[in-house]
Amino acid sequence: MKPWYDAREILIGGQWRRTSATLPVENPSTGAEMAEIARGTAADIDEAVAAAQAALAGEWGSTTAAERGRILLRIGQMVAERAGELAAIEAADVGKPLKQARADALALARYMEFYGGAADKVMGETIPYLSGYTVYTLREPHGVTGHIIPWNYPMQIIGRSVGAALAMGNACVLKPAEEACLTALAFARIAEQAGLPPGALNVVPGLGEEAGAALSSHPGIDHISFTGSVQVGSLIQAAAARNVVPVTLELGGKSPQLVFADADLDAALPFLVNAGIQNAGQTCSAASRILVHRSRHDELLTRMAERYTQLQVGPADADLDLGPLISARQKEIVEGFITQGTDLECAATGRIVDQAPKGGHYLPPTLFAGAAPDHVLAQQEIFGPVQVVIPFDDEEQAVQIANGTDFGLVAAIWSADGARQMRLAKRLRAGQVFLNNYGAGGGVELPFGGVGKSGHGREKGFEALYGFSVLKTVAAHHG
Ligand code: NAI
Ligand code: MG
Repeated sequence: MKPWYDAREILIGGQWRRTSATLPVENPSTGAEMAEIARGTAADIDEAVAAAQAALAGEWGSTTAAERGRILLRIGQMVAERAGELAAIEAADVGKPLKQARADALALARYMEFYGGAADKVMGETIPYLSGYTVYTLREPHGVTGHIIPWNYPMQIIGRSVGAALAMGNACVLKPAEEACLTALAFARIAEQAGLPPGALNVVPGLGEEAGAALSSHPGIDHISFTGSVQVGSLIQAAAARNVVPVTLELGGKSPQLVFADADLDAALPFLVNAGIQNAGQTCSAASRILVHRSRHDELLTRMAERYTQLQVGPADADLDLGPLISARQKEIVEGFITQGTDLECAATGRIVDQAPKGGHYLPPTLFAGAAPDHVLAQQEIFGPVQVVIPFDDEEQAVQIANGTDFGLVAAIWSADGARQMRLAKRLRAGQVFLNNYGAGGGVELPFGGVGKSGHGREKGFEALYGFSVLKTVAAHHG
């Protein structure tokens, strides 16, 4: 364990302290217990919310937008300087290959830089109105924001939600996933060292049904940001509804990439495969469905299969194509889906390397063909390294299949036809559409979020600053 943070502590109002109960931290690459984290309770959440309220009434609440920006910029700089250490912690904690963990740490730094730069550039308007009036709007923080985040991209999701919330002057209570608390704690240490006032960020690790449920139902919370499963997202929205509190939900998807007859397959191929296997498929915006024009189906399948057979799965520190899944439970869920694909053609699988420790949660990536669009593997979020290839005959059918799930997070179109790109970008049900690319490098500038069961509200980009603030209209009558 690194000396600069204590995995067993929680952070409330600038005070680090232990809780009586703890939870084990597993290294998914080995299955071995590597640390213990605090098991925060409803009482801890109460204190964290009170500390956030006190911060808003005190130093943090009177920190100017420019100063908030400077603090975030300092945090970003310090995160970037420690990216290697943060990456090593994350790789051990969640099993992701080191280069992905490093990319996550740098993304966290970049979020702090982006929102640090934006903090003093969110402005209201003046509104022409009746004679004798001056009307203007103010963008104000919600107050206390709750952040319940998952284990798949902890640093990136802290960056996009806590970064934007702090930039707008909210005070945050962060409940990281029980499987992935270490970088949240390390980040909070960095934020403290960078001069973030006490109580502006409080961190309470713990179980979803304990600390998480206590946070989402707390009457002192003014906004909740959640990323995770549809099932829990729905519980959180219901809890927030009882307190009439706005929520931002990012709930994953079943995102398609559409490959047309005129597509540049050489350019598409790395994106088609990588978007399915990145982070071992445990990515909300994973492209789990590849829709291809029938005239290119066999060629595409052969070429994807070729890549699949070269994919290597192994421990995070071996830095291969895929690490293990997060837990034995997640592996069981994904294997359960694979079992439901016995009626499909298994086009290819990757390979678990020999040196992979026996206790790790390794699963070879699997490419399926021959799935009807309503097959369970073509409809449900698997959250593991599994992709299905589905043929289509024309543009209309491609759109029907693409839009034919409960989800709508992202989509991609591979085609040389500019008019088709424009046409379909409008017709696809998704929060982000990529033309001849997938993910656009994940830029922090790009508003992100879903429609349908993928959730609602937008994080990332400037848009998130509106989501983490409330508009007030001031109408002055002066005659
Ligand atoms: P989850 O939705 O249970 O966990 C996400 C977060 O919610 C964690 O911080 C957890 O502690 C918290 N949580 C759990 N129950 C809660 C409750 N009752 N009240 C408040 N907070 C609660 O996700 P889980 O169980 O880790 O993964 C299950 C499935 O969810 C995955 O297979 C995947 O399909 C989906 N998922 C989607 C993610 C995304 O990026 N959209 C991220 C993680 C999971
Ligand atoms: Mg869970």
